[in-house]
Amino acid sequence: MGYLLGLDVGTTGTKTLLIDESGKVFARALAEYPLLSPRPNWSEQDPAHWWQATVATIRQVMAAAGVSGSEVSGVGLSGQMHGSVFLNAGDQVIRPAILWNDQRTAAQCEWITETVGQETVVAETCNPVLTGFQAPKIIWLRDNEPENYEQVRKVLLPKDYVRLLLTGEYATEVSDASGTALFNVPERRWSELILQRTGIPREWLPEVYESPEVSGYISAAAAAATGLREGTPVVGGGGDQAAGGVGNGIVDTGVVSSTLGTSGVVFAYLDQPLMDPLLRTHTFCHAVPGKWHVMGVMLSAGGSLRWLRDALCQTEKDLAAETGRDPYEYMTEAAGSVRSSEGLIFLPYLTGERSPYPNPNAKGVFFGLTMRHTKPHLIRAVLEGVAMGMRDQFEIMKAMGVEFRQVRASGGGARSRLWRQIQADVTGEAHCTINVDEGPAFGVALLAGVGCGLFASVPEACHATISVADQLLPDPDQVARYQGYYEIYRLLYRQLEGTFDQVQALVERE
Ligand code: XUL
Repeated sequence: MGYLLGLDVGTTGTKTLLIDESGKVFARALAEYPLLSPRPNWSEQDPAHWWQATVATIRQVMAAAGVSGSEVSGVGLSGQMHGSVFLNAGDQVIRPAILWNDQRTAAQCEWITETVGQETVVAETCNPVLTGFQAPKIIWLRDNEPENYEQVRKVLLPKDYVRLLLTGEYATEVSDASGTALFNVPERRWSELILQRTGIPREWLPEVYESPEVSGYISAAAAAATGLREGTPVVGGGGDQAAGGVGNGIVDTGVVSSTLGTSGVVFAYLDQPLMDPLLRTHTFCHAVPGKWHVMGVMLSAGGSLRWLRDALCQTEKDLAAETGRDPYEYMTEAAGSVRSSEGLIFLPYLTGERSPYPNPNAKGVFFGLTMRHTKPHLIRAVLEGVAMGMRDQFEIMKAMGVEFRQVRASGGGARSRLWRQIQADVTGEAHCTINVDEGPAFGVALLAGVGCGLFASVPEACHATISVADQLLPDPDQVARYQGYYEIYRLLYRQLEGTFDQVQALVERE
């Protein structure tokens, strides 16, 4: 029996999953670690915590499943994208890693865009330089911590630091490299032009593999630490979004995922590196060799509902604590008790927005309140507003020519039948669920299966293990009704855009 191990080095914790080649899950484990914010807008982590969580969760899943290291055929790595781990000549971590959600680098993004040239940046990377990406973090170190910058010999992405400790290799793969702003996405290689113009040495960057390729083997030291067999292959793996794409089976034209976690991500497979001309979505290399993907990221999807739960739904939380049910079940039941939101529209920009509006000052809004509105209306309006934000991503992709043959709903938001129906009605697209909901760790375990020859290709691995469980069709009457509200939803952002900035300026003065 060939077991496969998938790891997801996430922002709140590392999740490790043990499956077999049929996709059956034998064990899963999660070890959490702290997120550091030493200053407003800064977000850092200690890479030593990732390694501790890696060792602990690998040991836990093998013990829980009663599997020995010699029975594991391959390992796949996934993780939070975009972060920077700075290493010195002795492979020691120089300072805490700077993460994807850190916002300190606005000036460095501007510098890179001006120095390299906006057209070259877009032609090479298929994206603008965003504050979360890796390149501006390197330039930030140069500008602000020159004594640290002088010591740098390697810069790694989070999961690739774990790979170094597992295998001794400096390696990454195309999907995560795509989020550095240093990678030529159409040609799937480091961008010599950007490296040369920014002065970032090529030797600092790891070798790049395709996601299912073997990037190294478990070292003797890592075998002793984890219980894995020395020599077990470790494949390239993927950034968490591309790996999640594989885990949802988004490996064919026309199959799109819509994932509602804290954020809301629409992810589509591409045969060619197509881009939104306005750069509102990201075009990155996919974890399928020679293919790409496009994704739109809204920042507060499930996050909006969590905010509402904590701000207004103490009764539902108390009830849930008594009955052992989930507070969200009570909230969505309440939302289902009203036929419509009766003109109440929610804009879900509680933490600013990324797609379709890259605007840190955007704010959440309830529009259209009347005396008739009750808590169930507010909950329903949040479910609908998030679905409208997801429709924004669908619209951008449809305008790019992306085919929508099947939408697969995943993440915590897919558990509610009502929310899935609302998404189908707002977007006009049927929403299915699939038989697995394990996210990126499942995707990279499949990539490991491809890398060690258990499957012939990534699509074959997905087709063998992932299938549609059920499907909700849009209701034509609701689709027509929501169209009018969607138009107002779009209009509200345009009308309020300047006001968001004015409010932000006032808040900053307080
Ligand atoms: C992707 C992104 C997040 C992070 C953290 O662009 O920013 O998915 O990878 O999960």
